[in-house]
Amino acid sequence: MEDSQPRFLKACRLEPVDRTPVWFMRQAGRYMEEYRRLRRRYGMLELCRNPELAAEVTLQPIRRFEPDAAIIFADILLPLPPLGVEFEFAAGEGPRIHRPLRDPADVARLRPVVPEESLGFVMEALRLVRAELDPRIALIGFAGAPFTLASYMIEGGHSRHFLATKRLMYEEPDAWRNLMSVLTRTTVDYLRAQAAAGAQALQLFDSWVGALDPDDYREFVMPYSAGVFRSLEDLGIPLIHFGTGTAGFLELIREAGGSVIGVDWRVPLDEAWRRVGHDRAIQGNLDPLALMAPRPILKGKVEAVLDRAAGRPGHVFNLGHGFLPETPVDNVSAVIDWVRGYR
Ligand code: CP3
Repeated sequence: MEDSQPRFLKACRLEPVDRTPVWFMRQAGRYMEEYRRLRRRYGMLELCRNPELAAEVTLQPIRRFEPDAAIIFADILLPLPPLGVEFEFAAGEGPRIHRPLRDPADVARLRPVVPEESLGFVMEALRLVRAELDPRIALIGFAGAPFTLASYMIEGGHSRHFLATKRLMYEEPDAWRNLMSVLTRTTVDYLRAQAAAGAQALQLFDSWVGALDPDDYREFVMPYSAGVFRSLEDLGIPLIHFGTGTAGFLELIREAGGSVIGVDWRVPLDEAWRRVGHDRAIQGNLDPLALMAPRPILKGKVEAVLDRAAGRPGHVFNLGHGFLPETPVDNVSAVIDWVRGYR
């Protein structure tokens, strides 16, 4: 029945809702004591690869805050080992890829991925979570976008200037296009498998795409992100297109696709929505650092986002990027309460 639909899914479809739905990127993680407790016993990848543990971590923020959506606990880098690119999460410094891609031969060595086989633990975790989850709470699956995945595979970890990535893009355009095509295919198959396992919406994370100028985005990246969205359209479920640093080319992000566009805090929500077009839903865009501010400042920033959304159907309240580990848990509860109480 239409009215039992989670309000998050309704908002994604631009339908009116009783109140603004809210969830947070990185809502499971180190800022929560119950997560840190599990992390003392298990590595990050162990948590991801064990469906019972991944389901448990997914549900931790649901039990504590009851947001309107759960995002499956996983990581955008999980498809790398099946592609033939091994990595680890090094304590305190983020992902470390053992042998970053640097030339066309490295790209040619990538292996085809069958997600149901090599990433079956993610699908199993989705099934476990969906079985436990209140029907009013939506379940979100996700994957990294081709550019953001490529940048990790080429840089070997986090990067400030994306020098090696841009070098390959400019100097070896054929290898670049091969790599982006492989990642597009992998991402499509992986997200389709997640939908089949119970994901009711899918988010594509292009977290570092803001490193590009609009011309390079259009030429070297947009065709592949657009390919992902085009290949998922027939699923008929909300597709969220998230990036940071995209204020310079929001029109192209819209053109690439997604029924919901996720924006960071560097652009005011009303301006972003106008440029994206009111025929798409919008997700965002509280600065995650606002959670470290004194309550009156935090409340002001939460209300500013809601004011700019102006009650228009199609706003999903979220951060502009993920929580930091230092985030006070009580401030997260307060944000949820303010969003819920906003008239
Ligand atoms: O949102 C959620 O609650 C779902 C879980 C989730 C994680 N990573 C868990 C995680 C999601 C959606 C991601 C996506 C992801 N992973 C992105 C895109 C979103 C973004 O933040 O830009 C990126 C770029 C990655 C790659 C990644 N994974 C990095 C750079 C790091 C290290 C940085 C850090 O915060 O330590 C990770 C590790 C990671 N992924 C953690 C979590 C909870 C921390 C792991 C730990 O417990 O030590």
